[in-house]
Amino acid sequence: MKTLILVNSPSLLEISNLRMKITYFGHSCFQVEVNGKKILFDPFISPNPLAAKIDIKSIQPDYILLSHGHYDHIADAETIAQQSNAQIICSWEISEWLSKKGIQNIHPMNIGGKWMCDFGKVKCVAAIHSSSLPDGSYGGSAMGFIIETSQGNFYYSGDTALTYDMKLIGEFRKLSFALLPIGDNFTMGVDNAVIASDFIKCNTIIGLHFDTFEMIKIDREDAFRKFAYRGKKLILIEIGNTIEL
Ligand code: NI
Ligand code: MN
Repeated sequence: MKTLILVNSPSLLEISNLRMKITYFGHSCFQVEVNGKKILFDPFISPNPLAAKIDIKSIQPDYILLSHGHYDHIADAETIAQQSNAQIICSWEISEWLSKKGIQNIHPMNIGGKWMCDFGKVKCVAAIHSSSLPDGSYGGSAMGFIIETSQGNFYYSGDTALTYDMKLIGEFRKLSFALLPIGDNFTMGVDNAVIASDFIKCNTIIGLHFDTFEMIKIDREDAFRKFAYRGKKLILIEIGNTIEL
């Protein structure tokens, strides 16, 4: 894809078609459409009252990426995997747990590893968080993902605290945008997410993991102000809506 672009020098119209489509399904669940493939992250839709209008049957991804085993990240993984036959990419421990439930199309990974998919490259990076499965099984380490494609790169941190490791991402990758938790209490909040955006050298941030529960409710205006103050753009997508970046 990349070679093709360089050789054929596309028209402006073609370039504008190369934007990624991002659809928000609430909490930390969103889908990115890139290079003709749909990648769904951390599906938690049917138990989320804020996402009641989302028809889960309409979600037909090619891949499902799971950052960790907590219920608010995997609740609908099994259902959506069965209805779409999407490949699940997750930790070794979660893959073992899901395969016992009869799911076969799983690609296990762990922090530090990368894998080439047909849409681009997936790299697993450290997240500072816990990871147990709903029945108490050990879920391995919580992780984030860097997705590198010919249409651009993005970082999905998963549930995490602010960590100096994020500087490594900023040093070695050029990101088009990043998806970071901003709800505080269980993850970093807005102030630390602003610092994280500095560490990863990214000025376009999509906020996740906020407002779903009482403990992670945020003041939106305050959040917008804090990012704007540092010359950055915070995007909060309405549940069910799609944006292009
Ligand atoms: Ni979690
Ligand atoms: Mn969570």
